[in-house]
Amino acid sequence: MVSYSVEVSGSDPRTVTCGEDQRLLDAFLRSGVYLPNSCNQGTCGTCKVKVLSGSVDQPAPSETVVSADDQAAGHVLACQSTPTSDVRIEVPLDAGTGPRHVLRDLCGTVHEIRELADDTVALAVGIDEPLDFSAGQYIEFRVPGTGDVRQYSMANPPSRSDRLEFHIRRVAGGRATDGWIFDSLQHGHPIEMRGPWGDFVHDRDVDAPMILLAGGTGLAPLKSIALEALSADPEREIHLYHGVRHSRDLYDVDFWESVTRRHSGVRYVPCLSREDGADRRGYVGDALVEDFDSLRGHVAYLCGPPAMVDAGVRACKRRRMPGRNIHREKYTPAAVTREWGAESVPA
Ligand code: FES
Repeated sequence: MVSYSVEVSGSDPRTVTCGEDQRLLDAFLRSGVYLPNSCNQGTCGTCKVKVLSGSVDQPAPSETVVSADDQAAGHVLACQSTPTSDVRIEVPLDAGTGPRHVLRDLCGTVHEIRELADDTVALAVGIDEPLDFSAGQYIEFRVPGTGDVRQYSMANPPSRSDRLEFHIRRVAGGRATDGWIFDSLQHGHPIEMRGPWGDFVHDRDVDAPMILLAGGTGLAPLKSIALEALSADPEREIHLYHGVRHSRDLYDVDFWESVTRRHSGVRYVPCLSREDGADRRGYVGDALVEDFDSLRGHVAYLCGPPAMVDAGVRACKRRRMPGRNIHREKYTPAAVTREWGAESVPA
């Protein structure tokens, strides 16, 4: 198998080996070397790097993700690019650091499928070997019989690393949900998975009061973050706002109410945007603005549909939370289609 060396230049140079049809990001994460990453679909731009020497192949990125000027200057997306020679790349100086868990292929076995709400299930999957991950990260599932990949965040804390829990909402006509998970997936069935991915992670060094804003199944990674934070500090101040349209879409209500009884610092605020009946009628960002005069000194984690996350960020800033304290993950509806087996990894 042909492979190439890929070097990140800078004050901390690192080199990894990358197969000819392996994506740069995959090669780095499999080697436990951090590169910024989020969507792994070529849509967010987080993994943008500059090719200093050598060459890569990649589908032409959208100019909204990599501008024409940046493309002309040699910027590419590490999650989409495969090397065609030895390559030297540069990572933006402000890229910072992130989780260094080794990316792995995983063999999962369905342990449980439990109905959470209308068209939403909790899927528990046992894995062959415990997985190191950070609270907030996600896994890719291969949809059997297709080249499709779906991304689901872990809802369990990293301390439970041999049994992963996911919250999955049915998408009408979706190949992964209607065509598989809600149709034929059963206890004992195998699942091919790959992960962990993503930079949306709990910063365990920050113990500030925490704001969690979730839309729909965006609750999953926030559950992982909250449970990890509470296991480190049972008195941690956490304000969880969970937004859905209708009461039939709310889930885990009993669980969160029991958490508030056991942890006096936790507040749980379900918000319904299309009907009365929960604590709040309206959107999570509006409820946050109503409840706080100032969010200086707080840290926030937001996950859900893009419009909800954007509104939540505006709400946090309106209450004077510094941008560096706002962590966000947008759930995008785009399905990822990729030949799962095509990623040849050097032995
Ligand atoms: S564009 Fe590569 S991680 Fe989002």
